[in-house]
Amino acid sequence: MPLLAIETSCDDTCAAVLDGPRVLSNVISSQSEHERYGGVVPEVASRHHLELAVPVVDAALADAGVTFGDLDSVAVTAGPGLIGALLVGLSTAKAIAAPRRLPLLPTNHLQGHVAANFLEPDPLEPPFLCLIASGGHTILAGVRDHQSFEILGETLDDAAGEAIDKAARMLGLGFPGGPELERLAASGDPEAFSFPVAMSRDPGLGFSFSGLKTALVYICRDLGEDGTAERAADLAAGFQAAVVGQLVSKVGRALDAEAWPAVALGGGVAANGPLREAVSSLCEERGIPFKEVSRELCTDNAAMIGSAARFVDPLVFPDYLSFDAFATGPRGGR
Ligand code: KG4
Ligand code: ZN
Repeated sequence: MPLLAIETSCDDTCAAVLDGPRVLSNVISSQSEHERYGGVVPEVASRHHLELAVPVVDAALADAGVTFGDLDSVAVTAGPGLIGALLVGLSTAKAIAAPRRLPLLPTNHLQGHVAANFLEPDPLEPPFLCLIASGGHTILAGVRDHQSFEILGETLDDAAGEAIDKAARMLGLGFPGGPELERLAASGDPEAFSFPVAMSRDPGLGFSFSGLKTALVYICRDLGEDGTAERAADLAAGFQAAVVGQLVSKVGRALDAEAWPAVALGGGVAANGPLREAVSSLCEERGIPFKEVSRELCTDNAAMIGSAARFVDPLVFPDYLSFDAFATGPRGGR
């Protein structure tokens, strides 16, 4: 029996229908409205989710060829994320589940990024090491079961995606900056400027991206507006290489510390081609399988929430009517 999953933790309104680990539909409506502000405006995101939630759910059901009557449960992202945005998804899920007396599966967004790797084709079974790199988080996760992960290391300041988005903005690119920065970097020379690969001598598994961002600020200031525009491709390539270099070196360090049988990725930054290639090469060197989850399942989507929800304890009607979303707090970790 199919499960409906809803994800609205940030600026993408997402719904998916799953049958076990099989994705029957996965609809993502990205809000372009935020581009003019250069970042996600929480209140604008909530209002757009309100407008988009019903059509996106309808599209997911239609794509999967099912109706509300066919569903056996409703999964929804409970947090972490933007509280107003989360509440729209949670209210939508309750409104669908309650009249049908369906169970509700409140799901952790970060566990969703991990669980994208549990989906068909080629589902990955724990244990494995997962690098979660998104707009809000950068975490090395030790995944030993389907329900949770251990935080082995995480960023001390900015998330990788947050730093990338800020760099893209400095280079005059749109929002979200990741895909545009990657495109621009492809024609640049990553060696043209020297960017610090932070934390490379740090023996731990933490990350730091704020120094890299500051380095770009100073380089752009020295180049001036025209110089920055002229050298934008080289700057993008150098910045991207420094982010990827740090992420990959910490994956290597985590593999030194523990013999993980496989490596996986999750989060929007994991859609980055050079990062995927670098982690793939590292795994090849070490003879460890690398699970290459599709790019569409790396950036926010509801299929990953449906995947994680399969391992969540269901809440029954009417208990979930008082269940609340959370902006920060449990991150799926232990
Ligand atoms: O997981 P996600 O979709 O949303 C959050 O949970 O934050 O991640 C969004 C982040 C943004 O910072 C975006 O710029 C970045 O992922 N991103 C990328 C790429 N695609 C998305 N970063 C680098 N290269 C990409 N191709
Ligand atoms: Zn995410």
